[in-house]
Amino acid sequence: MKTAKKILKRIGQGLGVILLLVGGFCAYVAVTPPRTYDPPVAPNIHVESTEARIQRGEVIAHLQCISCHADNNNRLTGKRLDELPAIFGKVYSRNITKDKEKGIGNWTDGQLIYFLRTGIRPNGTTAFMPQYNLMADEDMKSVVAWLRSDRFPVQASKTEAPPAEYSFVAKMLAWTILQPGDFPNQSIPMPDSTKPVAVGRYVATAVADCYGCHSADYLDLDKVHPERTKGYFAGGSKFTDEAGKTIFSANLTFDEQTGIGKKYTKEQFIRAVKTGVRPDGTIFRYPMVPRLSLSDREIAAIYDYLKTIPRLNNNIAQKQAEVQLAEK
Ligand code: HEC
Ligand code: HEC
Repeated sequence: MKTAKKILKRIGQGLGVILLLVGGFCAYVAVTPPRTYDPPVAPNIHVESTEARIQRGEVIAHLQCISCHADNNNRLTGKRLDELPAIFGKVYSRNITKDKEKGIGNWTDGQLIYFLRTGIRPNGTTAFMPQYNLMADEDMKSVVAWLRSDRFPVQASKTEAPPAEYSFVAKMLAWTILQPGDFPNQSIPMPDSTKPVAVGRYVATAVADCYGCHSADYLDLDKVHPERTKGYFAGGSKFTDEAGKTIFSANLTFDEQTGIGKKYTKEQFIRAVKTGVRPDGTIFRYPMVPRLSLSDREIAAIYDYLKTIPRLNNNIAQKQAEVQLAEK
């Protein structure tokens, strides 16, 4: 009896210590700015600018950078990301025009690539932004060539968005799931352009990030091996549409009942992804915006790839109906 009490007391003390430690850590996270690291040694890369690279970079910028960085005048001076759930705080993207003071005009090509791959800035601070760790070296260079070009959105501008005010939750995420990635220690080649499935896999994961939204949870991705992500392409990740209603991403596997196998022919899929309109005339809701800059070939390749991945049964329509009832 006595020993049992002693043991319980011991456990109690142990728990107390753990709680104190956890509490102390939380307080630390709450009062410090987002996580920082030692300033990284950026690779020594010089990107040669060619018109082909600038054009390819523009395609990728339309898929990725512009939606988050463009102000009302379509210049990449940064803006409030108000579609992010309020629990993250007030998140603002930054000025990434060629301006040397307010933008990234003073970053080296290597520093830019290091940041885009890992999320760590030249000074060691981290950014609440996607990491492009799977993108091929050549595509990465195209992005940099575009950022350095004289295209309108990146022309030097001194306009600046206010600094972000991250919530405790956002900072906590930076210490846990949203940690910076490793800089790849091998070169990443472009997929073999004669193999549609390989091209589709590449576009759907490394460039257009379809899997990031179309798996079970966009905060719980396997960024190194996308295929190992929970509910890979079976949809169900939660978003807020423009009316503030909860919506779920769609199941894009070829599951016969709940996926797209029977819903879309390849031609219908291409048209829907490009225009944002389903074969039955209904319109995709935000954040599923039309992907105008993807070529028909690339979207067809995504379709071919989706056909090859495991078919998962996940009834999104039913989930959506349940939430709608609850939100009424
Ligand atoms: C989902 C939204 C989102 C996307 C997509 C995105 N960014 Fe960002 N980016 C941000 C936010 C937010 C910040 C600021 C983060 C912070 O301060 O913590 C940022 C910061 C940056 C910075 C650091 C600038 C500085 O001065 O600190 C660079 C460089 C950058 N982004 C470039 C890009 C490029 C290039 C792309 C496209 C390949 C891109 N971003 C795509 C949201 C995004
Ligand atoms: C920012 C998150 C996000 C990204 C990135 C994204 N999607 Fe979506 N997608 C959604 C959401 C949310 C829906 C559900 C829209 C609705 O219910 O109206 C959706 C719906 C769809 C649908 C409709 C499926 C159906 O059952 O009718 C297709 C097709 C689709 N997405 C394809 C893609 C492809 C291909 C990509 C990559 C090029 C992609 N999506 C990238 C969030 C995203």
